[in-house]
Amino acid sequence: MMRAPSHGGDRIDPPEVRCVDVAATLGGTRLFRALDLEIAPGQWLTILGPSGSGKTTMLRLLAGLLEPNEGDVLVGGRPWARLRGEERVSMRRKFGYVQQQPGLFHATVLENLAIPLRWRGLPRDEASEVARDALAAVGVDHLASKNALTLSGGERQRVAFARAIVPRPGILLLDEFTNHQDTERADLLEGIVAQHLRSGGSATVVAHDLGHVDRIRRASAVDPKVCVMAWAVPTRT
Ligand SMILES: Nc1ncnc2c1ncn2[C@@H]1O[C@H](COP(=O)(O)OP(=O)(O)OP(=O)(O)O)[C@@H](O)[C@H]1O
Ligand SMILES: [Mg+2]
Repeated sequence: MMRAPSHGGDRIDPPEVRCVDVAATLGGTRLFRALDLEIAPGQWLTILGPSGSGKTTMLRLLAGLLEPNEGDVLVGGRPWARLRGEERVSMRRKFGYVQQQPGLFHATVLENLAIPLRWRGLPRDEASEVARDALAAVGVDHLASKNALTLSGGERQRVAFARAIVPRPGILLLDEFTNHQDTERADLLEGIVAQHLRSGGSATVVAHDLGHVDRIRRASAVDPKVCVMAWAVPTRT
C-alpha cells in the first residue's frame, strides 16, 4: 500500500534498468546505436548532449514508452517488450517520469496528484492528504485549488515533479526538471532527488549543463555516471 512521501527513512529497492545494444532511429535519423548502459539501485545517471541528440528519446526508451529499433531495454532483467497487462502496469508504477513539457489535466492541482493516487487504490481522504503533503514538499501547496492548466511554466514543472515523486517510485526519470526554476527552487527539487538516491532509489537526469551535478553530489554523496549524446547522424536511405 502507498505511503506518504516522507522523503526520508524508508529504503527503496528499485529494479535495475539496462540497455543492451540499443539503437534508436526517429524520422529517418539515427540518434544512437550500440548503446549499453545500466542504472542500478542507488545509482545516478546524468545524460548530457546537444539539442536534438536524443536525450528525451533515451528517457522514453528507459520508461518503456518507446521500443528500440534494435536491442533491448531490460527492467528487472526482463525486456519491456515482453511485459504485458498487469505486469506492465506494475512495472510502470516503479517509475516516476517528469517529462520535459509535463502535461497536467484540466482539474485542480490537488486533483492532478490525488486522482492518480486513487487509481492506485488509496481512499479519497488519504489521497488528498498525501497529495497535499507532496505539494507542500515542493512549495506549491498554495496552488492546490487552482486549475492546473492556468499555472506558469515553473509552477507546472513543480506540480509535475510532486506528482511523479508522490508514490515514492524507485526509479526517477527527470527531463531538464529544473529548467524553469530559480536557484532556490532548483535546490529544493535537487535536494529531494538527493534524498531519493540516499534511500537507494535510482535517478536518470537529463541536463544541459553540469551545474546540477555538484549540487546533487554534495547533498547525496552519490557520484553520477555521465552519458554524453553526440550529434545525431542522418541515416542514408
Ligand atoms: N516521434 C518522432 N518522429 C520523428 N522524429 C522525432 C520524433 N521524436 C523525436 N524526433 C527527433 O529526434 C531527435 C531527438 O529528439 P529528442 O527529443 O530526443 O532530443 P533532445 O536531445 O531531448 O533535445 P532537446 O535538448 O531539444 O530537448 C530530434 O531531431 C527530434 O526532432
Ligand atoms: Mg529533450
